[in-house]
Amino acid sequence: MNGYRRDPEGTHPAYLSPEYRSTVRRAPNRPLIPLPHTLTEITGPVYGHERVGPLDHDLTRRHAGEPLGERIIVTGRVLDGDGRPVRNSLVEIWQCNAAGRYVHRADRHPAPLDPNFTGAGRCMTDDQGRYRFVTIKPGAYPWGNHDNAWRPAHIHFSLFGTAFATRLVTQMYFPGDPLFGQDPIFQSVRDPAVRERLIARFDLDTTEPEWALGYQWDIVLRGREATPTE
Ligand SMILES: [Fe+2]
Repeated sequence: MNGYRRDPEGTHPAYLSPEYRSTVRRAPNRPLIPLPHTLTEITGPVYGHERVGPLDHDLTRRHAGEPLGERIIVTGRVLDGDGRPVRNSLVEIWQCNAAGRYVHRADRHPAPLDPNFTGAGRCMTDDQGRYRFVTIKPGAYPWGNHDNAWRPAHIHFSLFGTAFATRLVTQMYFPGDPLFGQDPIFQSVRDPAVRERLIARFDLDTTEPEWALGYQWDIVLRGREATPTE
């Protein structure tokens, strides 16, 4: 049985990025021990369609009214290391609202909650490996990592490959964000060319007239073009 290929050195951020303070306590301080993959890691469990509802991809239609903010469409393909679509995979997202506030008891910063926005969604990839979400553009938020620290606008993504052990978690950013340069999480991917893979592309063809701006973001699960993951 073949295991999964490991990605080239430098694709993913180091476990320890001291400027990103919480990595100091959570990073392993001894060398990792690779474990051989067995049938369990490679085959199960797989998530079926029945768990995902028809509106789960639309974060703007969860409540009585519509959330405040700039309505956007975020779509793209999930691809394997050889550029083949990854079909029937569960993609989950979570994000703050347009004011930069999460619906989470740990988020107490003085920005308003939006009664019409929870900030979580999910969908399955189709036969082309495509996912699609409708949401609002998240705001920047302060996070206390260092003096005057603000996160660039981002959407958190979780992806399942064909099996539970292939879960990947990452963040998608928006083009031209002025906060990139001071964000230790974004900068923990050291190679600027690899960092670019985390930034969605504004796309007029995805944009729907009179309704929502469109962004395209492809996610490559592994290999030379792999999207950095956490
Ligand atoms: Fe976040």
